[in-house]
Amino acid sequence: MNTLANDRLLRALAREPVDRTPVWIMRQAGRYLPEYRATRARAGSFLGLATNPEFACEVTLQPLARFPLDAAILFSDILMIPKAMGVGLRFEEGEGPRIERPVRSAVEIDALPVPDVGQALRFVMDAVALIRRELAGRVPLIGFAGSPWTVATYMIEGGSSRDFPKSKGLLYGDPGALHRLLGKLARATTDYLNAQVASGAQALMIFDTWGGILSPRAYCEFSLAYIKSVVGQLRRERDGARVPSIVFTKGGGPWLEQIAGIGADVVGLDWTVNLGAARSLVGDRVALQGNLDPNVLFAPPEVVRQQAIAVLDSFGPPKRADGTWDGHIFNLGHGISQHTPPEHVSALVEAVHQHSRTLRQA
Ligand code: CP3
Repeated sequence: MNTLANDRLLRALAREPVDRTPVWIMRQAGRYLPEYRATRARAGSFLGLATNPEFACEVTLQPLARFPLDAAILFSDILMIPKAMGVGLRFEEGEGPRIERPVRSAVEIDALPVPDVGQALRFVMDAVALIRRELAGRVPLIGFAGSPWTVATYMIEGGSSRDFPKSKGLLYGDPGALHRLLGKLARATTDYLNAQVASGAQALMIFDTWGGILSPRAYCEFSLAYIKSVVGQLRRERDGARVPSIVFTKGGGPWLEQIAGIGADVVGLDWTVNLGAARSLVGDRVALQGNLDPNVLFAPPEVVRQQAIAVLDSFGPPKRADGTWDGHIFNLGHGISQHTPPEHVSALVEAVHQHSRTLRQA
């Protein structure tokens, strides 16, 4: 029941030999696909889509029908945990997320409940189970959550931000209150990810989109420490199969060694890091995921191909001189843009397939 027709992703995550580099794309289900926009129109809104297991399953599978990708990722959002905490989540057309009741003071933070996410976010667990059934073992399903720090920034700012003045104001002005908020989010996130595994998620990813805006000390204390706490409490096995975890801090390049040391199986990298350099620092401890600049996809297909090849070459042949393997999972360095031409994604996936095979023949 648990056998996969394509297990390249899980093998590469475990740094086992694979015939070619597995590839998936952050935000692979989304507005750049006309079929996604059509389903969203039927659902009425982004939240209508994400909170309905049938719709969520449908859009999760859309990119796989178009491109020969090596993984599916649950269609949901990192802001489902604040939604379950009752802060009021809305998505304004063209404006991104809005939190109706931001939390900015110790009093507001201490009044926040730690929700029973398995209950409050039942629709996510139902989506996971349905997607697993519909995938029927074609490729593995990745579950995910945001890092406590990244999710906290949305709750404090009330939405997206450029400079994070309120979050940093709290961090420096009342660090104890921020720690209590992060502690609550870490507990909810742990339960949430473990519930996804119980429902069928076969790998887990933590998106720390805003860890990279912190000073080195603040990053370790307010972001990485809580990611480590979550990772340390994750369920590692289901039905005898290991459930690997991927940690992605955008802008985390300077702290690669610390990130590689928290117990996750894989470190996700943005495009500011050279994969070969990252590999020689930590490649014998973790697999690496990344890291094509998503904006490369705005260039003509031939350029996309060349840039994909350059990313694969920067990692190099995955087999080491001593016969052991390092894992590389090809991905973008951040989520795909809604303005990306889908044909350029086809060129990318094809180039990764072709070139990564030749790397293993050398
Ligand atoms: O990868 C996938 O295909 C799974 C789906 C997924 C979504 N959000 C769907 C989504 C994932 C993994 C996320 C994670 C997420 N959400 C992050 C971390 C990753 C990253 O990109 O940095 C963050 C910061 C969020 C919060 C969020 N959700 C923002 C800032 C926005 C608005 C900006 C935008 O891209 O529109 C969203 C909305 C959102 N989440 C959309 C999708 C497909 C677009 C909503 C729409 O259809 O209008």
